[in-house]
Amino acid sequence: AHQWRGVIGEYADRLPAHVSERVVTLGEGGTPLVEAPALSERTGAQVFVKVEGMNPTSSFKDRGMTTAMSAAAGRGARAVVCASTGNTSASAAAYATRAGMLCAVLVPDGKIAMGKLSQAIAHGARLLQVDGNFDDCLVAARKLADTHPIELVNSVNPDRIEGQKTGAFEIVDALGDAPDIHALPVGNAGNITAYWRGFREYAGQGAPGHPGEGLDPVATGTPQMWGFQAAGSAPIVAGHPITEPETIATAIRIGNPASWQQALDARDESGGTIEAVTDEQILAAHRILSSEVGVFVEPASAAGVAGVLARAERGLVPAGARITITVTGHGLKDPQWALRTPDGSDVEPVRVGADVVSIADALGLG
Ligand code: F0G
Repeated sequence: AHQWRGVIGEYADRLPAHVSERVVTLGEGGTPLVEAPALSERTGAQVFVKVEGMNPTSSFKDRGMTTAMSAAAGRGARAVVCASTGNTSASAAAYATRAGMLCAVLVPDGKIAMGKLSQAIAHGARLLQVDGNFDDCLVAARKLADTHPIELVNSVNPDRIEGQKTGAFEIVDALGDAPDIHALPVGNAGNITAYWRGFREYAGQGAPGHPGEGLDPVATGTPQMWGFQAAGSAPIVAGHPITEPETIATAIRIGNPASWQQALDARDESGGTIEAVTDEQILAAHRILSSEVGVFVEPASAAGVAGVLARAERGLVPAGARITITVTGHGLKDPQWALRTPDGSDVEPVRVGADVVSIADALGLG
């Protein structure tokens, strides 16, 4: 029987050779591409979601962490550091444990979902809550890595992008060709950079000297890239950094994305768009995903779906288009949002006695 080998094992011929010298893997990738009829009906397109919450630490970060951590291990690194809104820290902590390395994580004080914090601590990271936001944490992490024997594993590390591009490969492998449109949330803008690289390379359009050059193209073309930021944290849409970013989607509460220019390139080269969605739109999409599609995600992960639905309402989704949307992290990371009604009140469980009559009654079974 075939066992999925993780993204380096599966795609080594399309990744830089140095990541294969000492592979650190938890079997990441190979996530389901799930058809979403509830979204197809609403948009008049054919919509699929790429469920990245099915990775080992329950977010897409694991794809880039296996490559970044393998490269670090191959160079003999002993310690890694990252700034994080939560998911990167959970992933870095798990892969560092696997590699036998020390992992330091800098997180913004008080704005990290409990599930992610628990993961970083469970995996033994040295977790520091910094008096500042994500952007402050990233500046500090970069300086620390510049001046001390510790490697940076944020997505400014090129090996992170290399690993994350495999999400695009898997989508093309599953569909048999590139989608017409690929949508996803944008925070620090590493993932939109990575997907665009992956789609281009699979279409035989990679930059000269890129890994996989000379292999036959797998796709006939590339999709439009549609990226969505949270309205209170939308620097790319605004055209300037946001000094105090706000959104309930804490994973993308970022005011000065490191891969800003690469995100603009992905948008412009693909003929795509980068737009903002409100927290209300994000929570509405979150609810549709869980109650109609059957996929439970954290709020930030619903931003891509929210954006596609918003564009459909404005008549901007071409009829019959094949659309893939990356839903980036699992709902159990930040589950509190499921326990709120649309009007903001708490969902209370219905209490019954332990007898069949009361239970049947409460269920309306007569
Ligand atoms: N969705 C989730 C669930 C995320 O955790 C992130 C980023 C994004 C989307 C945006 O991806 O930054 O590549 O544009 N989380 C980072 C972290 C910043 O620290 O975990 P991006």
